[in-house]
Amino acid sequence: MKTLYGIALIIAAGMTLASCSKLQNTSVLATANCSSCHGSIMNPAPPPDAAGDTSTSDPFVGAHQVHLNGSDFASQVECSTCHIVPTSIGPGVHPGGISSATLVTFSGVAMTETNTPGTRFYDSTLATVTPQPTFNAKTLQCSNTYCHGNFKGGNNFSPTWNVVNSSQDSCGSCHGIPPDDATHRGKGITLQTCYYCHSPMIGPDGVIVDNSMHVTGKLVLYGKSVSAW
Ligand code: HEC
Ligand code: HEC
Ligand code: HEC
Ligand code: HEC
Repeated sequence: MKTLYGIALIIAAGMTLASCSKLQNTSVLATANCSSCHGSIMNPAPPPDAAGDTSTSDPFVGAHQVHLNGSDFASQVECSTCHIVPTSIGPGVHPGGISSATLVTFSGVAMTETNTPGTRFYDSTLATVTPQPTFNAKTLQCSNTYCHGNFKGGNNFSPTWNVVNSSQDSCGSCHGIPPDDATHRGKGITLQTCYYCHSPMIGPDGVIVDNSMHVTGKLVLYGKSVSAW
């Protein structure tokens, strides 16, 4: 996608939002880039959405930028992790080529399986977790994503897409501090001691040191990255 954005930015730069009222005009489409009708110079994701809305409470704007810019505890999420992305623009192709029923189709890290039989920490008393994430376009809730805790020992939290006020990504929302499972329970583990076993992702003060190691689908354990757990 990065290459696509790069090419798109070089091609066009000049088109304005006003041009988008001429969606059926093929000469407009010929010079359009992915940020011509929605999104900004940062990336083609809203805000603004295709109707020009910019508020995060708007269903099409929502939490796009917090996922795409990364935060102090996690790095950027790919567009394709959450939905289908058109690769070209043109009549009948885009806009209008993707049905809203199939738009949000999760992939990649959102579907990471955990507690897989045969892995080092497999617990046969717990089910294997194979996330089948869903987006409810009415309630605007995302459910069963690996990222928000649908994993072994996680909270399986269902965040609401258009509530962007830091109330849904605090420590403890996706998994407990520590998680309530046999590995962590009753051991007097606190936020300040996570680093004994989960360094270098987290430091002695309980602060995330390397956001690119968190919410990746891999577990940072005893100084190593464990890809199946
Ligand atoms: C000519 C205006 C225009 C251009 C250029 C454009 N889009 Fe869109 N895009 C829209 C509109 C309008 C929608 C709203 C839904 C629809 O009508 O398909 C949309 C929706 C989307 C969606 C949500 C899925 C969907 O189809 O509803 C994605 C993802 C998207 N665009 C990505 C892109 C990417 C990537 C590019 C560059 C390859 C691009 N858009 C270029 C107008 C445009
Ligand atoms: C964390 C998940 C997530 C990521 C990452 C994400 N999107 Fe979306 N996007 C959504 C959801 C959810 C919707 C549909 C909202 C709805 O139906 O209310 C959406 C809708 C859209 C729309 C439709 C807007 C409209 O006006 O119809 C566009 C355009 C879009 N996304 C572009 C992108 C692009 C481009 C990227 C990557 C640069 C991206 N998105 C990354 C979740 C995501
Ligand atoms: C958006 C959901 C989410 C939030 C919020 C969250 N975590 Fe996590 N955390 C995860 C996921 C998912 C994993 C599983 C490992 C992975 O995918 O990187 C994880 C794993 C961990 C681990 C194990 C080591 C590792 O990264 O593999 C520690 C320690 C941890 N988180 C601490 C924290 C702390 C401290 C906070 C608050 C600053 C926090 N988490 C907030 C989703 C979250
Ligand atoms: C004594 C070592 C140790 C400490 C301290 C520790 N963990 Fe873990 N953690 C583990 C091990 C081992 C696993 C993998 C075990 C498993 O999958 O059952 C794990 C797995 C996890 C996972 C993945 C989900 C799960 O439960 O398997 C998360 C999230 C996590 N730890 C968060 C934390 C947080 C947050 C802290 C600090 C509050 C912490 N851990 C402190 C050893 C530790």
